[in-house]
Amino acid sequence: MDMDALKRQAAARALEHVHDGMKLGLGTGSTAKHFIELLGEKVKGGLRVVGVPTSEATRAQAKANGVPLTTLDEIDHLDLTVDGADEVDPQLNLIKGGGGALLREKIVASASDRMIVIADDSKWVASLGRFPLPIEVVPFGLAATQRAIADAFVRSGVSGQMVVRKAADGHVFVTDGGHWIVDARLGEIQDAPRLAGFLSAIPGVVEHGLFIGLAGTVILAGAQGIRVIERP
Ligand code: A5P
Repeated sequence: MDMDALKRQAAARALEHVHDGMKLGLGTGSTAKHFIELLGEKVKGGLRVVGVPTSEATRAQAKANGVPLTTLDEIDHLDLTVDGADEVDPQLNLIKGGGGALLREKIVASASDRMIVIADDSKWVASLGRFPLPIEVVPFGLAATQRAIADAFVRSGVSGQMVVRKAADGHVFVTDGGHWIVDARLGEIQDAPRLAGFLSAIPGVVEHGLFIGLAGTVILAGAQGIRVIERP
């Protein structure tokens, strides 16, 4: 079975948690894309929902699929966010931001009563860190911010290289919020909540891709079937 089929299966299972009248956070990435497509089909069939997209790409896709959109300025909370992830650990802590949408993804997930993560089972890891950790930074004072990030790594017992993310055209990748992303290859993060705390305290860091305590449920699709894991 191919990866894309697994992603679609996870997305279809998440759709079972969507009910009439819900306000939804709409994730970003190749897995969330399936969810929005399937949601669009339900909306055409009469389901009434509104969504808040986590990126401009998702906004465009949701519009094209007929999913009504709103903003966090117009509504006071979201019932459910469904999003993908780059890595998931057994505590349901995540690395996100491989697609560069981590800031809006974290704002939307934090405004939601519940977050369901959908993924193929290659995203499941014993501890986070194999996937390079995305850290969204402001361009001003980049070198100082990188020094502070390196210090945060030392204090939380990790080490690794940092690179400023480039887009496919070779230019610096710019997020929807106009910021840059530093990707840090750390290998293994022993204490993700501790590292998350240090990174959040750095002025030039807008947000980082460690999602701690946000996901309530993870739906993992693999060759053996679907596994649903609830936060311990
Ligand atoms: C977007 O910035 C990311 O957080 C995605 O949610 C994450 O990279 C998962 O993407 P895929 O579903 O494409 O693997």
